[in-house]
Amino acid sequence: MVSYKELGLVNTREMFAKAIKGGYAIPAFNFNNMEQLQAIIKASAETKSPVILQVSKGARNYANQTLLRYMAQGAVEYAKELGWEHPQICLHLDHGDSFELCKSCVDFGFSSVMIDASSLPYEENIALTKKVVEYAHKYDVTVEAELGVLAGVEDEVSSAVSHYTKPEEVVDFATRTGCDSLAISIGTSHGAYKFTPEQCTRDPKTDRLVPPPLAFDVLDAIMEQLPGFPIVLHGSSSVPQEYVDMINQYGGKLPDAVGIPEEQLRKAAKSAVCKINIDSDSRLAFTAAVRKVFAEKPGEFDPRKYCGPARDLMEELYKHKIINVLGSNGHAE
Ligand code: G3H
Ligand code: 13P
Ligand code: ZN
Repeated sequence: MVSYKELGLVNTREMFAKAIKGGYAIPAFNFNNMEQLQAIIKASAETKSPVILQVSKGARNYANQTLLRYMAQGAVEYAKELGWEHPQICLHLDHGDSFELCKSCVDFGFSSVMIDASSLPYEENIALTKKVVEYAHKYDVTVEAELGVLAGVEDEVSSAVSHYTKPEEVVDFATRTGCDSLAISIGTSHGAYKFTPEQCTRDPKTDRLVPPPLAFDVLDAIMEQLPGFPIVLHGSSSVPQEYVDMINQYGGKLPDAVGIPEEQLRKAAKSAVCKINIDSDSRLAFTAAVRKVFAEKPGEFDPRKYCGPARDLMEELYKHKIINVLGSNGHAE
């Protein structure tokens, strides 16, 4: 048994309470490799932003859960080396799909876990979430649960159709499970294609797709039911068009990729939404930078020469999200 406390990590309890009070959101960035982790930590250290490092099922399959945990442990030391005196770093299991997996993360140094039983019938979601909460809380590990279903086509947690969270269920769910935070469905989805062109309008000036707004009325109704309770937004990449353009310019093919406009995330961050999940934007930044190097320097074969620029672009992205969208800068001196 390894306690996250020995590793210098923190759970989400205090982070979320402060974020709700302060009207900002904590960035939850997924990581799969060293470059992503370095970029996240550099951006967080420089802006003094609390941060959640997320490990998904895909990441575990790709990089190995043990290795990722040790990397997160190393990240705390790296943050201090960078001059961040009191790093507020949480290591979180993203979309845990079984009690056994959540338990293994609790036992192995994660400070927070998500049990995503949102695809199960309501009572089964409650039973599984409660079981995880009872175990995790013994070790002061915080638990995120999910109610409602996000649509998405590109990842391992996808569903063809979304079902908004029902505000009338949230009090019963939160009370009976004891979860620390609740991921909700209000129109976001995973991946770089969050809406079909048919769901969008087109800006006549730029010919860009303009997505439909998130269901803020549902969020408001949830907050009315659960005042001050930490709410989480998954699928919150904004799919920056400059990265999509760069990818397409240098030989890629991402037609009509579209995300959540940052204006809407800014609005959400000021509410009880205190954790905003971003993964796809970092994938886009990485890919754009690598494609550019490959196109401009076809003779390059040292991975540091293309992973380096990718890391720089991701760092710029993370800083932008922290400072200009979530407003979490300066909240972890
Ligand atoms: O929730 C989905 C995240 O973007 C992680 O996706 O399972 O492909 O790593 P992944
Ligand atoms: P994006 O695909 O929008 O980055 O969402 C990531 C996410 O929700 C991870 O759990
Ligand atoms: Zn997610």
